[in-house]
Amino acid sequence: MEPRVIQSGPPPGARLGITEVQIHALVHGFYDKIRNDAVLGPIFEREITDWTPHLAKMCDFWSSVILMSGRYHGRPVPAHMKIAGLSPENFARWLELFRATAHETFTDEAAALLIDRAGRIAQSLEMMVALKNGEFPTRSAS
Ligand code: HEM
Repeated sequence: MEPRVIQSGPPPGARLGITEVQIHALVHGFYDKIRNDAVLGPIFEREITDWTPHLAKMCDFWSSVILMSGRYHGRPVPAHMKIAGLSPENFARWLELFRATAHETFTDEAAALLIDRAGRIAQSLEMMVALKNGEFPTRSAS
């Protein structure tokens, strides 16, 4: 039997030279854009009263995803399921702003890694939100 290939060595973000300082810049630059966005800005301002812990949590989140630091211990799915009225357009705009910030902060290769991870997570969050809103046809729904 062929041996199974197990990923070893440093996490992909570390191999590309991504640092905690850059992750901090990404998170802060991204939420500056979010807060100035005509559609997403008001949603975030409605939901988040204290930005300092949110930004710190998001640095932990991206550090865990990209550098596997293990610092993030939250639950993203319920956090988004409780936000009323999240639409596919909201997710598309979120990703557009994320892509722009990633390219401003990182090399093309590092930005591509971040954008790939963000896209996958966005897709699963969007699916969970659609499921909660009954917008996802299931066999048992008939
Ligand atoms: C339409 C797009 C999105 C909106 C409007 C949105 C909004 C929010 C808000 C308001 C919170 C704070 C919730 C709270 O503390 O009560 C939050 C938390 C969070 N968001 Fe999003 N988000 C979006 C997409 C995403 C995506 C695509 C990701 C990941 C790639 C993400 C990752 C997170 C994480 C990790 C938290 C912290 C959850 C926790 O542990 O408490 N969000 N988001």
